[in-house]
Amino acid sequence: MKLLPGPLRRRREAETDGKPDGRPVDGDLRKGHEQDAREREKAGDRQRRREAALEVPIAVAGWVDERTGAGPFMRGMLYRKVPPSNWYYTLGSATLFAFLSQAITGVFLAMYYRPSATQAYESVQHITNDVFLGQLVRGMHKWGATVMVILIFMHMGRTFFFGAYKYPRELNWIIGVVLLVLTLAMGLTGYLLPFDQRSFWATVVAVNLNSSGPIIGPYLADFLRGGAEFGATTISRFYAIHMLLIPGLIAALIGAHLYLVVKLGVTAPPWMKAEKARELAKEEI
Ligand code: HEM
Repeated sequence: MKLLPGPLRRRREAETDGKPDGRPVDGDLRKGHEQDAREREKAGDRQRRREAALEVPIAVAGWVDERTGAGPFMRGMLYRKVPPSNWYYTLGSATLFAFLSQAITGVFLAMYYRPSATQAYESVQHITNDVFLGQLVRGMHKWGATVMVILIFMHMGRTFFFGAYKYPRELNWIIGVVLLVLTLAMGLTGYLLPFDQRSFWATVVAVNLNSSGPIIGPYLADFLRGGAEFGATTISRFYAIHMLLIPGLIAALIGAHLYLVVKLGVTAPPWMKAEKARELAKEEI
């Protein structure tokens, strides 16, 4: 009995169920058939719903493709050949992830932060002590900044030691250098925002260092301070640079950076030798 498939087994069980001589009467048989039919119908319905659900993402992709023509680009991007990669190649994506985490936690901090010389300190204390999960989000943003700087340097080291800065990727290296400077500038402008003694005086030192730079140094320092001296406008200037100007530039440059990565492909690891190089060389001659 156990060897029979489900529906048959159920029918046999229904047929003999509770009958002293084991033989079904007509009414019971009809009921059994009806139940079977209902179950088959239900199973068919489930199957149809499952198939329809699987069609949804395909239909959505088709809808978007028809309106954007992004299909060939996406196919090229998703099915492009990449050399056998390793963990070193994840450093760029890890930096990207750190940036996204900073952007998301930054948005939540901006909901409570007040960029004014008289209110900034209190608003940060309020975030840390009163706001639900405020301390966690602030901690993620603060430590995330350090993590991003470490990752960006490691990623730069990887591209340098793998020779990825050479032709034809020089432009991507230059974009990378600008990204590095902007990331450090994020750290500098963010450091003032808690507006406690340490952040204030550290920023005074950093801006004074800037002002001692040749030619543009003094102008840069004036721009950052919002005048010749640290004043009420300095913090709002730092805030605007920190949350609007630099993240916007970083996002745009990451877009260009990744476009070039997809367009040019990634460099193969230096220890990887091209297969059949000799035969190819012979053919070329
Ligand atoms: C916000 C900062 C950055 C992000 C999000 C980022 C992201 C990425 C990603 C995802 C890749 C492809 C995968 C990989 O090789 O790791 C890549 C490749 C590359 N990145 Fe960056 N990057 C950043 C900063 C930099 C910096 C500072 C430099 C150097 C100064 C740089 C130079 C390069 C180069 C040359 C490549 C091509 C690598 C190859 O062909 O093998 N990037 N980047």
